[in-house]
Amino acid sequence: MRNISRRDFTRYAGALTLALAMGGVGASLSGCGGNGKAGGARPLSSDQYNKLDPRNAGNFTMALRLPGTEGGLLGVIDAAAGPFEVVARRQSMEVLPGKATDLLAYEVKTGDKAHLNPVFSIKRGATLAARLANVLEEPTIVHWHGLHVDWRNDGHPSYAIGNGATYEYRFTVQNRAGTYWYHPHPHGQTARQAYGGLAGLLIVEDEDELRLRERLDLRMGVTDIPLVIQDRLFDDRGNLVYPSSPMDAFQGVIGDVILVNGTPSPVLEVESRVYRFRVLNGSNARVLRLSLAKDGNRLPFYLIGTDGGLLAQRRQVEEVFVAPAERVDLLVDLRSMNAGDTVFLKSRSFDPMHMEMAGMGDMTTPQSGGHGGGHGGTGGNATQTATPTSRLPDGADFYLLKLTVRRRIAYDLSIPLELSSFTPIDTKAATPRAINLSASGMRWLINGVQFDQARELFRIRTGTVEIWEIANATLSMPHPMHLHGFQFQVLERRNSPAQVREGGVDEHGRTATDLGWKDTVLIWPGETVKIAIDFSHQFTGDQLYTFHCHNLEHEDGGMMINYRVV
Ligand code: C2O
Ligand code: CU
Ligand code: CU
Repeated sequence: MRNISRRDFTRYAGALTLALAMGGVGASLSGCGGNGKAGGARPLSSDQYNKLDPRNAGNFTMALRLPGTEGGLLGVIDAAAGPFEVVARRQSMEVLPGKATDLLAYEVKTGDKAHLNPVFSIKRGATLAARLANVLEEPTIVHWHGLHVDWRNDGHPSYAIGNGATYEYRFTVQNRAGTYWYHPHPHGQTARQAYGGLAGLLIVEDEDELRLRERLDLRMGVTDIPLVIQDRLFDDRGNLVYPSSPMDAFQGVIGDVILVNGTPSPVLEVESRVYRFRVLNGSNARVLRLSLAKDGNRLPFYLIGTDGGLLAQRRQVEEVFVAPAERVDLLVDLRSMNAGDTVFLKSRSFDPMHMEMAGMGDMTTPQSGGHGGGHGGTGGNATQTATPTSRLPDGADFYLLKLTVRRRIAYDLSIPLELSSFTPIDTKAATPRAINLSASGMRWLINGVQFDQARELFRIRTGTVEIWEIANATLSMPHPMHLHGFQFQVLERRNSPAQVREGGVDEHGRTATDLGWKDTVLIWPGETVKIAIDFSHQFTGDQLYTFHCHNLEHEDGGMMINYRVV
């Protein structure tokens, strides 16, 4: 079977793409606000791009932005000290050197500090109270990704609020310690809003977590470092460009500038000790294959946690796939390093398996008027430039972060084997449910249907355990499937492609990241993944949650369903 890459496709369908772009579907975000800056923006020149190209190790010179207590981007906030006002707004910030970028961000003020996309930190059992204030010119709502909250607090798309409106959140954090996050969820507009910058972290603490910190001297922003990885496209003035051709909607938007904590080509100075990295793949569609490289060799590291917190035991790995919305918690052992040594965190090349293209025949008539047109959204002045194309293909090999060892230090702490406890969900009386992922025309479907706000695909009785067998079609692409409301456990992978099988850790075909609690799981073309979900909760009344693909263009395009827990 022919596996046509995005780049090949772009080459032979260039004329088609351009024709669609002339219809005004390629809208720069800066164009949406009517601030008059949109006209005449062009893609980054090759000169500009070469300096940002993450395949070039020599580009990595910008100091990584770190969470801190001074406010600003990634300011750390004690989330139990609320209520807070979280303002979803436009914001201008320097992202590319010397340029001001129009972004969307969550702003939270505490005392005299203004935090942007703050890192909320909270103890399990504490209550988070916040009021979302929407000053965007379009509807939005905040979803707390991975948290077990009632549907009113979950940010179901039906709760989206318009410009000038506010929405109150108040919930007790019941989740295990881990790295969770928050982002917009208005149906049809999630992708562009998240791409525009609306996303932040929520870090939950519990006793296991505090013990680990103590044991390894892990300090937020110093030796415990969150890494929010996002790929983006920029224009020559430094503004984000959100391409929205039917092909971008169908495959998901892939950028060619990689930001880590809002920093392109970042460097972090380190010492010879153990570091923790909490990685969130905050990209709309790009999958990462994380690994560490030193002098061209792979450096093993420890996986210690997944979406829903710490693993029972650390697990040594050489690489992990991290799909959009997934988190991995890593320990990197630099104890043997010397001053001047460098280590790169990178994404290794892999086959992105765009098998959907092989299923499409000659691709002459993609349906227009579907998803792509929706992105005009707020926009008056869409730029009329040709739809920008990523210069960094899906599956490319590139660097993410350069670690430079500043000095050797005495550090005699050792990495514990046991981290936490993990109780397998009791599946003896579980109800099976078959779920299939497919495409029709240029639309992605779950069990043959597209999202309809008014339809509930499944009704599930509170307290029951189900086993979902999620099968991705062969002529498909990888789909990171995400469940609201509950964390789940991966039981089995079947029919996995070789690049996934290689990372198998047990007789069920599972990979290392399948061993922890999950809220998002990547399902490759032709693959079937079995997950166990315990639908117990203590919330009052029925709960309406969604299950969707976290390729955000897929989600907006309708690859989502409602399910009700009764
Ligand atoms: Cu992170 Cu429904 O999404
Ligand atoms: Cu979610
Ligand atoms: Cu998908």
